[in-house]
Amino acid sequence: MALDLDVRPSDRPVDDAARSEILADPGFGRYFTDHMATARWTADDGWHDASVHPLEPFTLHPAAAVLHYGQEIFEGLKAYRHADGSVWLFRPDKNARRFAHSARRLALPVLDEDDFVAAVEALVRADAAWVPDAPDGQEASLYLRPFMIATEPFLGVRAAHEATFGVVASPAGPYFSGGVHGVNLWVTDRFVRASRGGTGDAKTGGNYAASLAAQADARDRGCDQVLYLDGEEHAWLEEAGTMNVFLVTSGGELLTPALGSILDGVTRDSLLDLAPDLGLTPVERRIGLAELRERLADGSVTEVFAAGTAAVVTPVVGIRGEDRDPEGADDGAGVVWEQQVGDGTPGAASLELRSALLDLQYGRTPDARGWLRRVV
Ligand code: COI
Repeated sequence: MALDLDVRPSDRPVDDAARSEILADPGFGRYFTDHMATARWTADDGWHDASVHPLEPFTLHPAAAVLHYGQEIFEGLKAYRHADGSVWLFRPDKNARRFAHSARRLALPVLDEDDFVAAVEALVRADAAWVPDAPDGQEASLYLRPFMIATEPFLGVRAAHEATFGVVASPAGPYFSGGVHGVNLWVTDRFVRASRGGTGDAKTGGNYAASLAAQADARDRGCDQVLYLDGEEHAWLEEAGTMNVFLVTSGGELLTPALGSILDGVTRDSLLDLAPDLGLTPVERRIGLAELRERLADGSVTEVFAAGTAAVVTPVVGIRGEDRDPEGADDGAGVVWEQQVGDGTPGAASLELRSALLDLQYGRTPDARGWLRRVV
C-alpha cells in the first residue's frame, strides 16, 4: 500500500545563522533538523496517519511495549550534497529491505519498502537546507535515522498491535573524530554480540544496548572499539562494535566475515562490489581470530578496517586481546596481547576504498551501478 504522506512545514524552523553554525561543526548525532516523518500502524487499520511535520517529542503510555520488551528496530543512511547543490541518497532500497527483515525478526509490522524510501525522501526534501556542503573532500552529510517502535500499552509478552514508524535527521561530520588516523580494537571474549538464531542480523536497539558494557570494557583496555567473536566457539570474527570488519591480504584479497549472525551492512556490500575496481578480490568466509593473529604476525594480512554508514571506512591500526585459561584457573586475569596492523598507520587499500566510496556518494565519480537516488 502506498502511504499518503501529508507534509506540514514547520513555522518555526531554526534560523539560517544558527543552522549555519551547527553545520560548520555538527559532530555526530548531536543536532536534529526542523522536521520528522511518522506513520502509525494498528493491527486493525494497517499503516495510516503518515506525515512529515515539525520535530516534536513523542507521548507514550508508560506501558508501551517498546519500553518493557525492547520491540524496536532502526536504520542508518545518509543524504549527500553534490558540488552542484543537488542532494542524493545512497542505496536507500538496501536500507528499506533490511528494515523489513528486521521488522519480521522483531515481530513488528513490515513497512512497504517503497513507503520507507518515500518517507525518507520527503523528510530530506523538507530539511534540504540541513544537508551540509562537503567541500575539499570533507565528510559531511545528513544522517537519517528511520526507526519503528511498538507503542501498544500492554504488559503481556506478545507482538504489539500498535506501532509507530519515524524518521529523524541529524547533520553529521565524521563518526570518529580522529577516525581516518586509525582506531584500536579490543577482542572481547567476555561479551558476545549474537549467536545462531538470535537477533544479530537485525538492526534492533537491544543489540546496541547489550554492546555498551563491551564498549566500555574496550575503552578501559585503552581501545576505541570492541571486536566480537562468534557466540559458540569464541573463535571466529564477527563485527567491530557498530561496524563490519574487513582484512586486506598481501595476495590482494579483501576478506570479510560471511553473513549469518552479523549485520548485512550496506557499506559492507558496496565495498565488496567496488573491490575488483581497485584490484582486490572480495572474499566472504569464516575468519578465525587465530588466522588473523598469525597473518598479522607473518605480514600476510596487511590491513584491517571497519566499515559502516556512520563510520564509512575506518582503518584499524592495532588489535589487543587477552589470553585466558579456559578452565578459569587464572581467576579471570589473563595475559594481554597486542598486535600492530601493518606499520601502525592506515593502509593504502583501506584509504583507496574509502575514497572510492566517498567519491561515488558525493558524485565525484560516475555512478555506474545506479546506486544514487536524487532527492533535490
Ligand atoms: C550506522 O552506521 O548507521 C549505524 O547504525 C551505527 C550506529 C551509529 C549505531
